[in-house]
Amino acid sequence: EARFTIDAIGRMHATGEKFAMVTAYDVTSAQIVARSGVPLLLVGDSLGMVVQGHDSTLPVTLDDMIYHTRMVMRGASRPLVVTDLPFGSYTIEDDAVRAATRAMAEGGCQSVKLEGGATVAPTIRRLVDAGIPVMGHVGFTPQSVHAIGLRTQGRRADQARRVLQDALAVQTAGAWAVVLELVPAPLAAAITQRLDIPTIGIGAGPDCSGQVQVWHDLLGLYADFVPRHALRLRDFADDAVAALDEYADAVRTGTFPTPAHSSTMAADELERALD
Ligand code: KIV
Ligand code: NA
Repeated sequence: EARFTIDAIGRMHATGEKFAMVTAYDVTSAQIVARSGVPLLLVGDSLGMVVQGHDSTLPVTLDDMIYHTRMVMRGASRPLVVTDLPFGSYTIEDDAVRAATRAMAEGGCQSVKLEGGATVAPTIRRLVDAGIPVMGHVGFTPQSVHAIGLRTQGRRADQARRVLQDALAVQTAGAWAVVLELVPAPLAAAITQRLDIPTIGIGAGPDCSGQVQVWHDLLGLYADFVPRHALRLRDFADDAVAALDEYADAVRTGTFPTPAHSSTMAADELERALD
């Protein structure tokens, strides 16, 4: 089956069909996404936390993002793959063009995503003019955590107006979709109504055009911090711990390996070998 395209996502949006996006960071998870019906895969810079063990996305480099995108692309045959431009890689417009070009050409993704509203709109325009599809990301923008704090954006009228204006600026600049992160649900609904491009919510309520979740949150792989907006559908880490304990027991008690787990040989062959 062919890969999902930006047009295909646009058609879902036009018919009001809500769609899911999920992060993935390596070939195994990308293959699993490809087997599922999830049409959009994000190589998120959240890998700084869930893969690299940092406490923010700030230390993630462009080389890291390209490395993970290359692994993902070897498994992601079906989903449309979007790669985050990391902190500092698009502050200067010329850098942004170089970074996005590398993400697409070396990484192999179909779109990039970058954080910010009105202030990054000229950068988004530059990329779009260069033929690079861009997904925006407004509201809470994790790369700015030290500037804005870890909190919902837009509870007060003046902030809410700014989030709306940021989303509109991103659309006007040519982005094909925009993530709304930690935006009050009624504001996200109002923004979604006013925009022509799809909104993709995380902690932004049910009325966005789509939703995005982090792989580790969804599957219960990462215990340190479970955000309120996470949809935790499985406890894979608990299952994995139980499986590893069973394995250790099986080795200790000698129930593993069994004859089925290895091959045998003729007794005389062994005798001749040991002569
Ligand atoms: O990096 C990421 O995983 C993201 C999503 C949470 C939107 O940017
Ligand atoms: Na991100």
